[in-house]
Amino acid sequence: MKIYITKDYDELSRKAALIIQAQILQKPESVLGLATGSSPLGIYGFLTGWAQSGDLDFSQVRTVNLDEYYGLSGDDSQSYRRFMQTNLFSKVNIKPENTYIPNGLEKDDIQECARYEKLIYSLGGIDLQLLGIGNNGHIGFNEPSDEFTAETHKQPLTQSTIDANKRFFAREEDVPRFAYTMGIGTIMRSKKILLIASGKTKAEAVKLMISGPITPRNPASVLRLHGDVVVIADAEAGALLK
Ligand code: GLP
Repeated sequence: MKIYITKDYDELSRKAALIIQAQILQKPESVLGLATGSSPLGIYGFLTGWAQSGDLDFSQVRTVNLDEYYGLSGDDSQSYRRFMQTNLFSKVNIKPENTYIPNGLEKDDIQECARYEKLIYSLGGIDLQLLGIGNNGHIGFNEPSDEFTAETHKQPLTQSTIDANKRFFAREEDVPRFAYTMGIGTIMRSKKILLIASGKTKAEAVKLMISGPITPRNPASVLRLHGDVVVIADAEAGALLK
C-alpha cells in the first residue's frame, strides 16, 4: 500500500486525477471503477478540465460505478447515476453507452447483482477502481459486518451511513435504506485501487484501515491484502497516521 499525505484537498484531488489520467493515457480503453460522494468531486473537476482542454480523451473509456441507491431511478436528483451525469459524464467525451451503474429500480436483487457482476467480467474486469471511505470504514456501500461479501449485493445501510448521507436529502426519511453495491471481492479483483480520504471525520477510519486489524468489521482494512493500492489522504484525514 502506497500512502501519500497531501497538504490539502486540492492537492489530493490533483494527485488522484493525475493517476487516473496516466491510466487512461496508458490504456485508452481502460475500465474505470468510479465512486460518488463529496470526496471525488475535486478529481472530477480536474478530469473535466483536462478533457475540455484536449489533454484527456474519454472516447474509449468504459466506467462501472461502485454503487447505487436501491429504489431510486437514474433521473432522481439523489441517484448516483445523476451525480455521475452532472459531475463527469455530461462534461467529457465519454460515450453514454460505455457508462454503467447498477439499476436502482430493479426490484429483483438476485438478477440485478448477477447482471452487474457478469457485466464487469465481460468488460475484462476493472483496471483502476477509485474509492472513498465511509466514517465507519465502508467502501462502496460495504458496511461493517461479520463477513466480507464477495460479489455485488443489496446492502442494508447502517444508521451511521444514513446519518452521514442525509445531508444530500431534504429529510432523513428520504434516504434510501438499501443500496446495490459491488462486493468486497468485486473491488479486490480490480487491477489497481486508488482510495482517497479528506477531512477530519475520516481520520479514525484511515488510521484503522492502515494499522487496525484486517476484519469485515472495518471493510477498508481488506485493501491491505491487495497488491496495488494507492491511498491519498489530505492532512486532516491523515492526521492520526504516524
Ligand atoms: C457513500 C458512498 C461511498 C463513499 C462514501 C463517503 O456512502 N457509497 O462510495 O465513499 O459515501 O462519501 P463522502 O466522500 O461524501 O464522505
